Amino acid sequence: MDTMRWENGRLILLDQTKLPGMVEYIDCRDCETIVEAIRHLRVRGAPAIGAAAAYGLVLGVQGTGAGNREEMLSAAREVARNLAATRPTAVNLTWALNRLLARLEASTETKREALLDLLLQEAHAIYREDVEGNRRIGRFGQELVPHGARILTHCNAGALATAGYGTALGVIRAAHEAGKNVSVYADETRPLLQGARLTAWEMVQENIPVTLITDNMSAYLMARGMVDLVIVGADRIAANGDVANKIGTYGLAVLAREHGLPFYVAAPLSTVDMALASGRDIPIEERRPEEVTHLAGVPVAPAGVRVWNPAFDVTPARLVTAIITDRGVAWPPYEESLSRLFRQR
Ligand code: MRU
Repeated sequence: MDTMRWENGRLILLDQTKLPGMVEYIDCRDCETIVEAIRHLRVRGAPAIGAAAAYGLVLGVQGTGAGNREEMLSAAREVARNLAATRPTAVNLTWALNRLLARLEASTETKREALLDLLLQEAHAIYREDVEGNRRIGRFGQELVPHGARILTHCNAGALATAGYGTALGVIRAAHEAGKNVSVYADETRPLLQGARLTAWEMVQENIPVTLITDNMSAYLMARGMVDLVIVGADRIAANGDVANKIGTYGLAVLAREHGLPFYVAAPLSTVDMALASGRDIPIEERRPEEVTHLAGVPVAPAGVRVWNPAFDVTPARLVTAIITDRGVAWPPYEESLSRLFRQR
């Protein structure tokens, strides 16, 4: 099942808010539809919002009257600003937009159609490279997974969160494809249940053994010796290896350390922000209180209660066993290993 596909000049996006009950696609003919889809998590997951935003930029520039190179450039910068403002934490979003802008800036083309085509080709490249990169993450990562491993994952870092195959779930898929007989614990991932709705769904679709737990069960799961390792994705990784990922990731990393379990992060280098020295500088998105006070539209808390709803947290690098990237596995100290992977690209 495609998370998104480009068809006849428009982006067809799987509406992830409807899963697992309904498989419904949105027809995005303009940038505004993509902005709305990213904001409301119809498309979500760091690499997927990067790719969707790239197509959004193409549609956005197409929708303006910009005719020559200068007009196109200023239109593209404006559209990119709107798209970048949708979600602040995942760096893949600005990474993808900057890649398209740089392509436009470097081009000597002057005609509108040629420049639009150039933007579209770059968006396609981002999409294609993401799938290829995830396959490599899978190959590198599965070597770290022992036969019969019972793996705990958080949120959804699967095919749905990327252009395809997934990062954390890509490692699990690769281990499964290698005949390693792995099984998965997916936690629900409150407040929006990406684990229950999306990760469990992906695993069930592919007959990879999966057991669903609520978020507050993981400590007991580990204490009972029922899990061998933890693998999660990332929204932004700082140069020192601090990892921003879905709220609750930090707690799992602390628990993994307490129970002597490896804690792996799987993410492409496009998720690594070498401009940020540490996780302290990563902007953390805070979302609407209704996501916490309501479950599937039904109130589960008193009206008017004060709510805090950060969508992500930051796991300090010292709790991360290794970072599995599309260019190889980075081990501590991450300043050195991540820089080396960037240099080798
Ligand atoms: O709020 P979401 O659903 O976009 O959060 C997604 C995550 O936290 C994922 O773990 C992360 O983006 C990695 S996806 C390969």
